[in-house]
Amino acid sequence: MSKEERIMNEYYTSDWDIQADYLLDYDVFDKVARFHQSTTFTYKKNQIPKGVRQDLYTWLLENERKLSLPKNYISKVKLNDFKLEQRNSPLNFDNQYIIPFKLLSEILHRSFGADKKSKSRSFPSAGALYPIIVLVLVFDKSKIDGIVDNGVYFYNVYENSLLQIQKWEKNDMEKIANAFYLNEGFPSPIAIGYSIDMRKSLLKYRTKGYRHALIEIGLMAQRLREVLISITNNTFGERCWSGFSDNSLTYYSGLNVRHSPITLVQWFGKRMENHDI
Ligand SMILES: Cc1cc2nc3c(=O)[nH]c(=O)nc-3n(C[C@H](O)[C@H](O)[C@H](O)COP(=O)(O)O)c2cc1C
Repeated sequence: MSKEERIMNEYYTSDWDIQADYLLDYDVFDKVARFHQSTTFTYKKNQIPKGVRQDLYTWLLENERKLSLPKNYISKVKLNDFKLEQRNSPLNFDNQYIIPFKLLSEILHRSFGADKKSKSRSFPSAGALYPIIVLVLVFDKSKIDGIVDNGVYFYNVYENSLLQIQKWEKNDMEKIANAFYLNEGFPSPIAIGYSIDMRKSLLKYRTKGYRHALIEIGLMAQRLREVLISITNNTFGERCWSGFSDNSLTYYSGLNVRHSPITLVQWFGKRMENHDI
C-alpha cells in the first residue's frame, strides 16, 4: 500500500459510503428528514417572514434576557463574583477589513481542526462520529486574504485545508442574498455553515443521533466563539444565524437538502470599532 493510500485509509472514508446505505434504517431517516424539513424556512418571493403578533411581541419584551427562577429552593449559596468578559453577538462587522490568511488559518485550525494522532477535535462528539460538516461560506473574496472565489469551501479537519466545492459567480450573489432574506449586503464577508451528514448522524443512534448532531453544532459554534475571543483579544466576534432559507442555501452550496442540510450559519469577522459591546 502506498503512503497516500495508507493516509486515505487512516483518516478518510469514501465520498459516498455505500455501507451506510445498507446499514441505515430508512424509516428513521425518513422520520428525521421530515421533521427536519418541518423546522426549515422556505423563501417565497415577496413573502418575507412577517413580524410577530402584538401579544407575542409584548411577551417577548417581558421575557428576553430574563431568567425563570425555581418557585421554591432549600437554600442559597452566594458564590464569588468575577469580572466577566464583555461579549455579545455583533450584527455588523467591519466589512472593509481584510482577514489575513494566517489569522483565518488559525481560527479554523484551533476551532475545528483534529489532532492527527488522537483524531480528537476541540469539541466532543457522540460515538466519535463527528457528523457535522464544516463549510466556509465566502461572500466577498476581496476581504479574505488567499481566497480567490466567492463560494463554498469544505474544511478538511486533518489537513487544515479548504476544498472548494462551489463557486458563486457575481450573478449568483443575488440568489444567495435572497436565501438570507437580505436586501443589501451580507453582515460579514465570511461565515461558517454547519451541515449535518444525516446518514452518519442517524446510523448508530437512530433518532437520538439527530439530537446529538444539534448538540454538536452548538458545541462547535461555541468553540469558534471562544477561539475568536482568545486569539483576537475580543476584537473579532461572531453571530449565529438561523434566518435563512435552509433548502435554497443548501442547494446553492452544492449539497443535498435531505442528506446534508445546512442547519446553522455563523457569521464572523472583525467587530466594528467602538462597537458597544
Ligand atoms: C441557534 C441560534 C440562531 C440564531 N439566529 C439568529 C438570526 O437568524 N438572526 C440574528 O440576528 N441573530 C440570531 N441569533 C443570535 C441571537 O439573537 C443572540 O445570540 C441573542 O439575541 C443574544 O444576544 P447576544 O448573543 O448578543 O448576547 C441566533 C442564535 C442562536 C443560538
